[in-house]
Amino acid sequence: MRRKIVAGNWKMNMDIPQSKNLVEDILKQNINKQVEVILIPPFTSLAMISEKCLGSNIRTGAQNCSNRSDGAYTGEISAGMICSTGAEFIIIGHSERRAYYGDNNAILKEKTDLVLQTGMQAIFCCGELLPEREIGKHFEIVKKQISESIFHLKKELITQIIIAYEPVWAIGTGLTASPEQAQEMHKFIRGLFTEKYGKETAESLSILYGGSCKPSNAKELFANIDVDGGLIGGASLNASDFAGIINAF
Ligand code: PGA
Repeated sequence: MRRKIVAGNWKMNMDIPQSKNLVEDILKQNINKQVEVILIPPFTSLAMISEKCLGSNIRTGAQNCSNRSDGAYTGEISAGMICSTGAEFIIIGHSERRAYYGDNNAILKEKTDLVLQTGMQAIFCCGELLPEREIGKHFEIVKKQISESIFHLKKELITQIIIAYEPVWAIGTGLTASPEQAQEMHKFIRGLFTEKYGKETAESLSILYGGSCKPSNAKELFANIDVDGGLIGGASLNASDFAGIINAF
């Protein structure tokens, strides 16, 4: 059985008091224990949230890390520092990082390596822009993102990778990929991993969907054979919506 995962990416929302309230609300929800739940708050709340979640089924992650391991890089936060907060996951290549902060496939390859070196898991995001889909280039774009940042890895390390397919046109827009569009791309992605690493590795890879996922559409998205959960933005900022998505499995 593949891991079922729902991760909440809080983005640049929630100061420390707000984070504390939200995690307390989430911990009170009745949630499906078969699903791995990951909270991904801003760096400033990460150690506190990790501590609050100790002893629960909920794990934590960071939204980004530096492409350097340590040293004179003012303002950067390394994968190793994130690991010391108790977090176990780092999102790599979110489309907002790609669009606004220059994270390209080469930089994301460096970041992925640093995450894996700490023993943490990378939630690697990929996805096309609307004009790329409109001209039928979505498969090509996703293949390039994955092959240039992930496919240098040895097969043994793929157990530390989770893929999140997030069509950029669906993120924060209220437009969701249809269940068919999600399944088609997830199947394509699993096929890429089958070609590169073999069927067994590809079959154990969790591929999450992200982009305007809500309690009302999660069930039909998660019902697809190759959709193993979600990376949730907006709806993860509300404890009962987030629980509703988790319980859609
Ligand atoms: P959204 O964001 O759920 O608000 O569309 C998803 C994401 O960016 O991970």
